[in-house]
Amino acid sequence: MHYRNAEKEDIPGIAALQQKYHVSTISDEDRPDGFVTTLFSEAQFAELIEKENGLAIALDGEKIVAYAMAASWQYWSAWPLFQYMIEDLPNTEYLGQRLSTENSYQYGPICIHRDYRGTEVLPNLFEFSRRQMAPRFPILITFINKINTRSFKAHTEKLGLDVIKTFEFNNNQYYDLGYDMSKVTPKQTLF
Ligand SMILES: CC(C)(COP(=O)(O)OP(=O)(O)OC[C@H]1O[C@@H](n2cnc3c(N)ncnc32)[C@H](O)[C@@H]1OP(=O)(O)O)[C@@H](O)C(=O)NCCC(=O)NCCS
Repeated sequence: MHYRNAEKEDIPGIAALQQKYHVSTISDEDRPDGFVTTLFSEAQFAELIEKENGLAIALDGEKIVAYAMAASWQYWSAWPLFQYMIEDLPNTEYLGQRLSTENSYQYGPICIHRDYRGTEVLPNLFEFSRRQMAPRFPILITFINKINTRSFKAHTEKLGLDVIKTFEFNNNQYYDLGYDMSKVTPKQTLF
């Protein structure tokens, strides 16, 4: 396995994974093991790569088997859910700090092909992404749909994210989670 930032040539492989596990196109068989909510167009993938260097991928040989997004709030402001989260930042305290678009960024979605779940891919991809963003921001913020219990378990119990609060948006219930970017990811084996 190896980990690197995606380049534009990787977009078709990432889009195929997104299609397989997006809430609108996922199979009934896969749905209980989690789904991604944010839908990226090809142009949004390209902007994430070019402007934020924020698309981390895991490869098994040449095959893309997982991805994790990370970007400044400015990038995410195109989506209504993130507009809501941005407006709520000043009402939120974490690690003794009031959150802002300067001291935090948004991580996720992360998506791992089912054949690679329950392996080192989760901590290693998270750690790779953390190392990219740590020089820019001290705090990671993300959200998880309350019905995505596998993702919640993975992020709280395996990766050590903290639940900051819960919120409702568009009739869905979400956890708002945070991570201290100075902490090395538990159980990562990158190097
Ligand atoms: C969420 C995701 C990244 C987590 O990575 P992962 O490699 O599957 O995580 P792990 O298997 O190491 O940890 C998940 C935990 O939930 C448990 N679990 C497995 N299936 C589960 C289910 N259907 N419901 C609840 N928990 C479940 C696992 O057993 C494991 O805990 P354990 O090791 O103590 O048994 C991955 O499952 C995924 O890509 N899912 C599809 C897309 C997605 O949901 N992305 C996140 C959006 S917020």
